[in-house]
Amino acid sequence: MAQVLCQLEITSNENLLVGLNTNDDAAVYKLNEEIAIVHTIDYFTPVVDDPYDFGQIAAANALSDVYAMGGTPLFALNVVCFPASYLDVLKEVLRGGNDKVKEAGAFIAGGHTIEDEEPKYGLSVTGIVNPRKVVKNSTAKPGDVLILTKPIGIGVINTAIKGEMCPPHVHSLAVDVMKYLNKDASQMMMEVGVNACTDITGFGLLGHAYEMASSSGVTIEFNKNAIPLIEGAKDLAEMGLIPGGCYRNKNYLKREVYLENVEDVLADLMFDPQTSGGLLISVEEEKADELYQKLNKKLKFGAFIVGCVRKKQDYDIYVK
Ligand code: CO
Ligand code: CO
Repeated sequence: MAQVLCQLEITSNENLLVGLNTNDDAAVYKLNEEIAIVHTIDYFTPVVDDPYDFGQIAAANALSDVYAMGGTPLFALNVVCFPASYLDVLKEVLRGGNDKVKEAGAFIAGGHTIEDEEPKYGLSVTGIVNPRKVVKNSTAKPGDVLILTKPIGIGVINTAIKGEMCPPHVHSLAVDVMKYLNKDASQMMMEVGVNACTDITGFGLLGHAYEMASSSGVTIEFNKNAIPLIEGAKDLAEMGLIPGGCYRNKNYLKREVYLENVEDVLADLMFDPQTSGGLLISVEEEKADELYQKLNKKLKFGAFIVGCVRKKQDYDIYVK
């Protein structure tokens, strides 16, 4: 999608602080010296059977793009494509979205619905950020430490759920991970001050790290022994429950990522598309421990130091 958009003639505007050119998570438009709008939209087909869970997950995922940029969500609009015969189910989806947006301290102010045989739900979220403090994905610096705020493996687990091969406790854990807001993680990174951030979604850990590395003009090095996996994800990946998106990500990134003696199953999980994944934060080494301690103490699923940023080398990403 980004590739197609890049072929359009991009309109530039002096107040548009973040637009199409860096694959950032949201657009940022400066209103004045103190306030910029952070605006984003995200929606997708159901990833779980329970409509209330799905609503919460879709909302947490959409809000995440505002959090990744250091913004505070103000309000959101529902984006709904739904079959007319499933209004009871839709009610539960919307209740989930509404509750999650409320938890974020924002509210739903409207939306738009069209009839569609294949249900889809998401939100367009409007937030604010101080224009001098916008956190982009394109400003990681050599020497930075990389912190990830949720374990990975969601795509593999969702594939297992769809195939009815997921153990119930792994299923509920994955739903909890997806529903969990990146709100606290974002607030803490803003308190400490960081160089760059993105959230991990459909492009997988390696894909989003690649976007960060290439747009920042640096190389990212992951420590293969430090990659946090959701309990059960590795077993399911070993059973071959790999989503199509994982192969697409792998194929797209094959010339950008250098894997040094990395187990196949771990590589698959690092390419695995996530839904409502955590933040990948690039923070100066001197501040890294402080941020890590804070995050690890507060966040439900912990925080993980997964690698570091180096000067640009032959590959954008190394895993070793
Ligand atoms: Co994002
Ligand atoms: Co997004």
